[in-house]
Amino acid sequence: MASNKAAWLREANTPPEVGEAPMPTAGPNELVIRNAAVAINPLDCHMLSAGVFVKEWPAIFGCDVAGVVHEVGSDVSGRFNVGDRVIGHAINLVSGRPQDGAFALYTVVPADKAAILPANIPFTEGVVVPFALEAAVCALSVTEPGTALPNVPTPALGLPYPSLEPAPPANKTLIVYGGSSSVGSMTTQLATAAGVHVIAIASARNFDLCRRCGAAEVFDYHDPAFVDQVVEAATAKPGHEFVGIFDAVGTPETYANGLTVLDRLGGGHLASVHPPPENVPDNVKAGMIFAVDDVAAPVWRDYVTPALREGKLKCLPAPLVVGKGLEYIQVALKRCEAGVSATKLVVEV
Ligand SMILES: NC(=O)c1ccc[n+]([C@@H]2O[C@H](COP(=O)([O-])OP(=O)(O)OC[C@H]3O[C@@H](n4cnc5c(N)ncnc54)[C@H](OP(=O)(O)O)[C@@H]3O)[C@@H](O)[C@H]2O)c1
Repeated sequence: MASNKAAWLREANTPPEVGEAPMPTAGPNELVIRNAAVAINPLDCHMLSAGVFVKEWPAIFGCDVAGVVHEVGSDVSGRFNVGDRVIGHAINLVSGRPQDGAFALYTVVPADKAAILPANIPFTEGVVVPFALEAAVCALSVTEPGTALPNVPTPALGLPYPSLEPAPPANKTLIVYGGSSSVGSMTTQLATAAGVHVIAIASARNFDLCRRCGAAEVFDYHDPAFVDQVVEAATAKPGHEFVGIFDAVGTPETYANGLTVLDRLGGGHLASVHPPPENVPDNVKAGMIFAVDDVAAPVWRDYVTPALREGKLKCLPAPLVVGKGLEYIQVALKRCEAGVSATKLVVEV
């Protein structure tokens, strides 16, 4: 009989404690995964330090798992079987249930937020994909604006889903600000796989990563002239619709630069990972994405596995494995808090 352990977060601003946890069971449309690797996201640090999205303490956080299917829910069709290697997006963020947190040996994941991980991809690589993928689909393909948090609008760029076939040019240009981040680089991958022309903004040392993700052009935000360069690059695409900016950083500095770019390009979307600035000009549609949405289900179901198998979806940015064992969650959270560049922190469990 299997037994479970988790890295429990007992209250805000205290380190996780590894201890026994109830053995989860799969609801009708869920999988229980025996995790082999979990990833750390800045969200976990925000949740721990500020208690944002935490519904109840003690809690088990974490959004990214890779492992082996332990149990399949009664209504999950033949897509998954016990023993399959999978990646999945754990949604403690919205459910608040401890069994939906990744920082455990066993985690419940909705079947429509999971995909088979091809045999040639290690768990430690596959685990960088799930949360970033869901965020990227939400950034790109939501069609109806909603409200992410009270009074915070959700952006609706309405761009096509990524395609396994070479996508015909969409004749649309999108700027991805923070192109070397997990969410930014995944957004570039999915946007370019939908035929969108992506201009990325990152540090010069990460230009290669941005290009591997499909960015047509990359500019260094440390260069005092980068705003001019980005504007010029976006203007140089006659016949293209300029969609706007996906800001994967979401700080006052990036908002100020983004609004300057939008002003000079005649407006567009400012879709951010954080609440956007208030009082933006009328020609700017500003909103915050919320990375748990049914809009991602078709991408999970139809795209992720074949795209990974064919190398069309890359496990980027590359993982940095912090250690093996739930005790390393704490070490990884500390490292994440300090900030990373073009990598995702991963713990084997
Ligand atoms: N709203 C949602 O649903 C949602 C979902 C997921 C994540 N998020 C939030 O989105 C943010 C990004 O998450 P993540 O996991 O992608 O982060 P991450 O990978 O940890 O971000 C690190 C990257 O940020 C880049 N960066 C930092 N400052 C920058 C600047 N001024 N200009 C351009 N790039 C800059 C760095 O680029 P260089 O090293 O190249 O300088 C670095 O590669 C976090 O705050 C997270 O909480 C929100």
